[in-house]
Amino acid sequence: MTDDPTPLRKDARRIAGMFDAIAPRYDTLNRLLSAGFDRRWRARAIDALALSGRETVVDLCTGTGDLALAAISQPGACARRVVGVDFAGAMLSFGAAKLHKHPAGASVRLVRGDASKIPLADASAEAVTIGFGIRNVDDTLEACREIHRILRPGGRLAILEFGMPSTAAVRGLYRWYFTRALPRVGRLVSRHAEAYAYLPASVKAFLSPSALSALLAESGFEDVRAIPLSFGVVYLHLATRRDGAESGDHRAAIIV
Ligand SMILES: C[S@@+](CC[C@H](N)C(=O)[O-])C[C@H]1O[C@@H](n2cnc3c(N)ncnc32)[C@H](O)[C@@H]1O
Repeated sequence: MTDDPTPLRKDARRIAGMFDAIAPRYDTLNRLLSAGFDRRWRARAIDALALSGRETVVDLCTGTGDLALAAISQPGACARRVVGVDFAGAMLSFGAAKLHKHPAGASVRLVRGDASKIPLADASAEAVTIGFGIRNVDDTLEACREIHRILRPGGRLAILEFGMPSTAAVRGLYRWYFTRALPRVGRLVSRHAEAYAYLPASVKAFLSPSALSALLAESGFEDVRAIPLSFGVVYLHLATRRDGAESGDHRAAIIV
């Protein structure tokens, strides 16, 4: 993580192809490699939105839909409906199968699309979530502007993304795990060497939490905060679309 990110090839075809290839093992590896913490991080993100049951939430980079499902089913604070957007067809297919079996699954719609060109209308969501997806998007500023465009004034944004622990002892151990152990286990289980080598490389190359906060502020968000979770292994980025701020272009909603 850096204030001046190292270029990493993140064209849509490469990223979507990689996630499509690991889609069958994606959920298993998430649970395994995070020791189950991924669920807690998603729950924290949904809690932070303080949903009332009336909102439309757009979950960008939804993948197999775990954050979308948390947004629709979290006890006490969930959305009325969720639209999950991702450009990897196989990830969405596994997500659709999971939604089909879930009691609240019918309130989630999955849309194939790019987070840099969201196929939804201006001001169509009360909240936007992104779980471990923003670092994969080629143009982060463009995605932030798009999120701003689809949010209603006063709408809330919650982004989960990997970070680096600030405590030296934890950081050393975590760095070893993240750059040595995790790619090996990921490669063995997914049988895809590139994806789990890409994970630490993409985290290293991505913006630091403070640089992402600055980008969100530049895109028209206020109350921007970056909260470290689990010693800073993950950051929860929160922001609010400024009331009355102008949105970008006027794109028609395409929901499939
Ligand atoms: C690490 S997975 C995260 C999935 C899910 N949000 C979760 O919490 O498990 C990242 C997902 O982002 C998607 N993605 C990456 N860049 C994208 C983009 N520009 N537009 C849409 N989806 C994107 C990938 O296809 C992949 O499914």
